[in-house]
Amino acid sequence: MKFGHFDDEAKEYVITTPKTPLPWINYLGTKEFFSLISNTCGGYSFFKDAKLLRLTRYRYNNVPMDNNGKYYYINDGKDVWNPGWQPSRTPLDFYECRHGIGYSRFTGKKNGLSAEVLAFVPTDDACEINKVTIKNESDTVKEFKLFSYVEWCFWNADDDMKNFQRLLSCGEVEIKGSAIYHKTEYRERRNHFGFFSCNCEINGFDTIRDDFLGLYNDNDRPDVVVNGKALNTVASGWLPIASHEIDITLQPGESKSIVFILGYVENPDDDKWESYGVINKKRAEEMQERYNTDEKVEEAFSALKAYWDNLLSIYRTTTGDDKVNRMVNIWNQYQCMVTFNMSRSASYYESGIGRGMGFRDSCQDILGFVHLIPDRARERIIDIASTQFEDGRAYHQYQPLTKKGNSDIGSGFNDDPLWLIAAVSAYVRETGDLSILDVQTPFDNDESKSTPLMDHLKRSFNFTATHKGPHGLPLIGRADWNDCLNLNCFSEHPGESFQTFGPSEGPVAESIFIAGMFVKYGNEYADICELRGDKAEADRARKEVKLVYDATLDAGWDGKWFVRAYDAFSHKVGSEECEEGKIFIEPQGFCVMAGIGVPEGNAKTALDSVKEKLDTRYGIMILQPAYTKYHLELGEISSYPPGYKENAGIFCHNNPWVSIAETVLGRGDRAFEIYKKTCPAYIENISEIHRTEPYVYSQMVAGRDAKFHGEAKNSWLTGTAAWTFVNISQYILGVYPTLKGLSVDPCVPKDFGNFKIDRKFRDAVYHINVEHTSGSEKGVKKLIVDGKEVKGTVVPFEEGKTEYNVTVVM
Ligand code: BGC
Ligand code: NOJ
Repeated sequence: MKFGHFDDEAKEYVITTPKTPLPWINYLGTKEFFSLISNTCGGYSFFKDAKLLRLTRYRYNNVPMDNNGKYYYINDGKDVWNPGWQPSRTPLDFYECRHGIGYSRFTGKKNGLSAEVLAFVPTDDACEINKVTIKNESDTVKEFKLFSYVEWCFWNADDDMKNFQRLLSCGEVEIKGSAIYHKTEYRERRNHFGFFSCNCEINGFDTIRDDFLGLYNDNDRPDVVVNGKALNTVASGWLPIASHEIDITLQPGESKSIVFILGYVENPDDDKWESYGVINKKRAEEMQERYNTDEKVEEAFSALKAYWDNLLSIYRTTTGDDKVNRMVNIWNQYQCMVTFNMSRSASYYESGIGRGMGFRDSCQDILGFVHLIPDRARERIIDIASTQFEDGRAYHQYQPLTKKGNSDIGSGFNDDPLWLIAAVSAYVRETGDLSILDVQTPFDNDESKSTPLMDHLKRSFNFTATHKGPHGLPLIGRADWNDCLNLNCFSEHPGESFQTFGPSEGPVAESIFIAGMFVKYGNEYADICELRGDKAEADRARKEVKLVYDATLDAGWDGKWFVRAYDAFSHKVGSEECEEGKIFIEPQGFCVMAGIGVPEGNAKTALDSVKEKLDTRYGIMILQPAYTKYHLELGEISSYPPGYKENAGIFCHNNPWVSIAETVLGRGDRAFEIYKKTCPAYIENISEIHRTEPYVYSQMVAGRDAKFHGEAKNSWLTGTAAWTFVNISQYILGVYPTLKGLSVDPCVPKDFGNFKIDRKFRDAVYHINVEHTSGSEKGVKKLIVDGKEVKGTVVPFEEGKTEYNVTVVM
């Protein structure tokens, strides 16, 4: 069943009922000011950091679901209703939500009025604009009242939910004209405030929540809205809100639009006050002025669209399959930007008050983002590398505001350092910019301890090379990519963290997944060394890689697939000899991606085992058989009920690893089959089963052992976005940036047909035509560049050339 449809021309998903299986959300904001917005106008806004600089309050874990947002109520004398349906939930005559790229548009119609809300964050400003347009579609005069509503958060969203003894005495507001200012805590340590304004005269306002709503009311029918009269309340302490009343009369056919702005402003310390106790509103008023007419808003909106059109022109494909086109050209890349911006901080499943930026998460996000805005990727790489320790270890997370490593969780996740190599390799391959490798980069944010970035890569590499266990395989530490495989922690009682309890390092437990990473990224490290002329280091690295390659085929091979790990007692995890958890997905995907066992034949056997043991109609499960009891020596993985999350769920993140691995073997049919199983556009018509948004990936789909097999959770913020984009764009469609230039070597299903790709790469545009002969899955028969046949798959790079016409015959 579907709850809407794609509009590819407009790059929108059109939701046609407010009653989607779960709130279907969108993100507004590209750089610093962000809002989450659901298909019924729920959500919240923040500046830079979802925990520390939260502007509006969201109510978690609420009944009904998705409570609080930016709401517009209409009281037309007959009904109280909202254009986005929530929170009044008054049935509408027409409802539509169009989630677009960086904006959302809601249309609600009732009793002859049509109300549209366009919400977006301009590309270069710290505010969200809501343009509300109301039209009288009836043939009689309409008189009605419009009320706006936002509830302020006391900045620190965590404290906001707990520290009532203090905060209920802190709230302060100012009202000037049509702007309501939230200045709580501004007086002492803070130099920022929020405001909610509109560009017309108002008939009243409210800032005291409990007077506006009525103390025992929900926000579905606020007293003030129902009574049709604002109380002009001025908050002092308690729970400040911002609400405007605007009385409107419309002739038949007439319409009116009002621009609301939710803004965030910082003042310099010496310019905080206009007069004693009164905030300096200069910057806020300038912001209000920038969007005080429909034309100015239209201009800012067009600029946002142009910004995205430009980004989405960097990789564009035209294949015979609409679903591939829409995912590759629009939604997958859009999600890559969002994951890059948010890491795993703020979604409807990540509260925005928990994790900071993940070291491994952000490194992987770069893989899918770097082609869009390489400069931002560069900056991010340096931020991440600056949190690394001198011995190559890494903080598992860092805080977006301070950019410092988070010592609560600390270090010890032994895959982390290698992801830095992955990110830098992707950046250098994309841009050819070797200068990043010379950037002086601190350790643990201590400027006095800085070395060139290249040296950080070396320390990442050496960390793994020098932390190996009894089988010559990398030690796992607290966990590797799979945060829930906690082989050294032995968390036994509630309250003990699964991941950080116990020693961070054990001398025995080893990871075959990290072995695969080491081979893949160790080789990429060696390639970079070579390109810089450091042949000796490249040779040394390749020797180290060879040791782990051999150890993997030896102690890491179980007979029909790669072992997952050795636990602290040196027992196999992910082996035929285990009672539960006999086979895991991660090492099969990653080791084959790294090329391990390809010539020897193990790779093919491993992937065939994946198909036989782990595949389902909704994607490939992370392991089988699921753990049915808690294994102290394995940790969190066995704490989940069978079929969910890391315990035999379909973890979408590592499905593309297997798909990429299939392309390494040249099996295009299977690679594409795997791609389609988790790809949102292909499962749109089972939205009632899948439940999360049909335009973005989710972290997890419940596996075969789960009661709700096929149901997804944790949409939006997942490394799946980057990895599926890498898979489809670089391996299946086959346009892969190498250090020496762009390689075109597709691996597609036998009946895929011809396709085109336009790719901007290092100051040039490549127009690529792939002539696909039916029956072939991989293999370039001919590569023709501007009429001339060239050898291999890499388009030779010519200095100064800005356009390449490439034909590939498969
Ligand atoms: C989740 C993992 C996640 C980890 C983060 C676990 O509870 O299952 O998916 O990576 O928390 O700490
Ligand atoms: C989600 C985390 O964000 C990511 O870092 C981890 O690799 C996966 N879960 C698997 O545990």
